[in-house]
Amino acid sequence: MTEDRRVAVIGLGYVGLPLAISFVEAGLSVDGIDAFAGRVAELNAGTSPIDDVGDERLQAALRDGLRICSPAETDLAAADAIFVCVPTPITTTKDPDLAPVLSAAETIRAGLRKGQMVVLQSTTFPGTTTGPFREVLERSGLRAGVDFDLAFAPERVNPGDPASASKAIPRLVGATTPDATKRAAALLRNINDNVVELSSPDAAELAKLLENVFRNVNIAFVNQLALLCERMGLDVWEVINAAATKPFGFMRFTPGPGVGGHCIPVDPYYLAWRAREFDFIDRFIELAGDINFAMPRHVVDLVAEALNDRGKALKGAKVGVLGVAFKPNVRDARNSPAADVIAGIAERGADVRFHDPHVDAFRDAVGTQREGTPLDELLGWADAIVVVTAHAAIDWGRVYDQASLVVDTVNSSRGHRTTDRQVLRLGAGWSTGA
Ligand SMILES: NC(=O)c1ccc[n+]([C@@H]2O[C@H](COP(=O)([O-])OP(=O)(O)OC[C@H]3O[C@@H](n4cnc5c(N)ncnc54)[C@H](O)[C@@H]3O)[C@@H](O)[C@H]2O)c1
Repeated sequence: MTEDRRVAVIGLGYVGLPLAISFVEAGLSVDGIDAFAGRVAELNAGTSPIDDVGDERLQAALRDGLRICSPAETDLAAADAIFVCVPTPITTTKDPDLAPVLSAAETIRAGLRKGQMVVLQSTTFPGTTTGPFREVLERSGLRAGVDFDLAFAPERVNPGDPASASKAIPRLVGATTPDATKRAAALLRNINDNVVELSSPDAAELAKLLENVFRNVNIAFVNQLALLCERMGLDVWEVINAAATKPFGFMRFTPGPGVGGHCIPVDPYYLAWRAREFDFIDRFIELAGDINFAMPRHVVDLVAEALNDRGKALKGAKVGVLGVAFKPNVRDARNSPAADVIAGIAERGADVRFHDPHVDAFRDAVGTQREGTPLDELLGWADAIVVVTAHAAIDWGRVYDQASLVVDTVNSSRGHRTTDRQVLRLGAGWSTGA
């Protein structure tokens, strides 16, 4: 087997940029390609748009030979292996949108030559690599498994969690032939210590979706438990922490204002859509979506309930939202439940502002662009604060000292002294002042 030493990575976002840099750090020759001119320019200027990739690491990779350019400027025929890390969004009706993947396949097809290997990394439904992706590549006249190798190797990076980028985290790969699987695994072993070889791209595609559907379904399950606890007068956080003392057969998931980001609210629909082709309705996915997408509305109801307790209506109230990124300690606000929470509160007649130490400006679910407000100003202004994302960089002591009324959707008040009926917690009810 010839050794692959020259790699191209198409799509330089949360997944593609760390991949390209890791290959450079392993001593390979790397071309990074992105269709967005602004992304190409900022990367070439040494500025990383990704939380987990520091500017210094990017600049070191550029000094060590990382070349970054647009699809039009690239010479893909020179690469031994080409990775595709472009987005896989869904449409407004939650059907897969393969346009970026197929457009990347077109870019590759133009320069595809015998002996190359193409590895799809974007999360997608089983059958994408060997179906629509392969069809575009084979319009070159070359055949997968005969003239070029074709594999799927999903990504497990978890932005905001540096441990997830460790070389020790196993990664999966499956290709259209056993030799191609070995070839792709050998290449990935340059940057990963534990590559697991599967029998097909489809198995690797479904394994990745299983991981994300598992999270989505379990988050929905605890969100539903949170709603039940509110009715029963129990504290869901106490209940979950108690169950989590069991050292086997239980995994801790926590409730919140909904799900966000590029993966959890999106990827399950790739599987649900594909399942329907087999006359199979994936009810777990539909149910989980139903519960998780309803959570922002519940948060709006909690804000109304909290204000009602003070004899105030939501209409005309001033509501400050803390945290709009989709999860703590990142600047990524894609598909954040904060968008629905803010739009829902505004729709019911309140004035809404937000503070997020990682996000300066934010577009809510109805498209209104909003600028962030400094924390002190927000705390002084708002009738009620609603906590959506508990970033470590927020001074929570100050929040619970200064805000007279807080709706806490993520248990950020844990460990802070609060007064009687100061804090209404999702899944737990009013603080008692204990
Ligand atoms: N973000 C994550 O945590 C994560 C984790 C695992 C898997 N994934 C999956 O990886 C894939 C990429 O996600 P991401 O978060 O890195 O996306 P991203 O939006 O951060 O980056 C994608 C990049 O691809 C570029 N691009 C889009 N179409 C292109 C094209 N046709 N040619 C060249 N460049 C193009 C965009 O300009 C962008 O810079 C998705 O399928 C996602 O589901 C993401």
